[in-house]
Amino acid sequence: MIESAQQPSSVLTRLADSPQHRVANEKTHRVCELPELLCKRYKIERLLGVGGMGAVYRARDLLREQYGDPDPYIAIKTLNEEFAEYPDASALLYTEFALTSRLRHGNVIRLHAFDIDPASQRAFFTMEELKGPTLDQLLEQHPDGLPWLEFRSVALPLLEALTCAHEMGVLHGDLKPSNVMLARDGLRLFDFGLGQPLKGLLNSLPRLSRKRIAAWTPRYAALELLNGEPLTTVSDIYGMACILYELSSGIHPYSRLTAKQAKAMEQDKTLQKPAKLPAHCWPALRTALAFDKENREIDAQRLLDAFTAPRPSLLRRICSRRPG
Ligand SMILES: Nc1ncnc2c1ncn2[C@@H]1O[C@H](COP(=O)(O)OP(=O)(O)O)[C@@H](O)[C@H]1O
Ligand SMILES: [Mg+2]
Repeated sequence: MIESAQQPSSVLTRLADSPQHRVANEKTHRVCELPELLCKRYKIERLLGVGGMGAVYRARDLLREQYGDPDPYIAIKTLNEEFAEYPDASALLYTEFALTSRLRHGNVIRLHAFDIDPASQRAFFTMEELKGPTLDQLLEQHPDGLPWLEFRSVALPLLEALTCAHEMGVLHGDLKPSNVMLARDGLRLFDFGLGQPLKGLLNSLPRLSRKRIAAWTPRYAALELLNGEPLTTVSDIYGMACILYELSSGIHPYSRLTAKQAKAMEQDKTLQKPAKLPAHCWPALRTALAFDKENREIDAQRLLDAFTAPRPSLLRRICSRRPG
């Protein structure tokens, strides 16, 4: 299983500076090359980031530039070498494109177009270029977690994005801090590369086996996914709950263990409310962190409601602490 990992920025800068825009996957160190010009239109400028499956580049759209667009810059996602070699690599990337572009929400990445470069046969899609830290970078700056109001300003749009995705029948499949960015004009959820449509929807899209594409991060994966069961909305809820807990406390709820390991150690019995999290949000977050999907009885909208609800007044909080 490949654990999706963010490249340290020094490595990124080094790679981005290389003339052939080389990308190395941290684990495999395999290098692949992307042509400098795709579809005679997109001029690759530099690497923006790499994950377990893909690489994202900044590019200049020469067509936009030709028409005097003041901002001709876009981002391009393509698969890294390991995945680009799959016979159905373009279908893999197309599924991500098709699922994401269905979601019209201010907190979901906006995609432009899917294409295949005729010369190199590389599949790619274009999207808005985001500028800002990913949530794992934000967490590095806040090792003790975010204060309540700051936490809320991240949690609410993130939960709105997931609520929209689930309402539109799209499962994300790989929720983790490095797949969320705090862009200058607001939060964006991205990387639906392991996403799937809800059962019965979008049946004509290629169905890719999650087992074959083991590029997800185990510590954010719900127990049922680790056990090879299908992805559902409550599997996404587990990943989301881990992100929210980590944002509030600075630490992973289960000491960075997988749900399987943490369950074996009965870590749910000692799970503590993050100190900065108001008590009225805790029951919902704790439910979302349940190991067994049968006990994870909460959806994204109800989680959102719990964090949106105003904090009870001081008087009510004092009264609710009194016995009897
Ligand atoms: N639209 C974008 N603008 C800027 N950077 C991006 C964009 N999309 C992705 N990135 C960067 O590239 C990294 C890898 O992208 P991602 O879609 O998560 O690929 P993977 O499927 O391999 O995990 C992200 O963590 C982020 O740092
Ligand atoms: Mg990713």
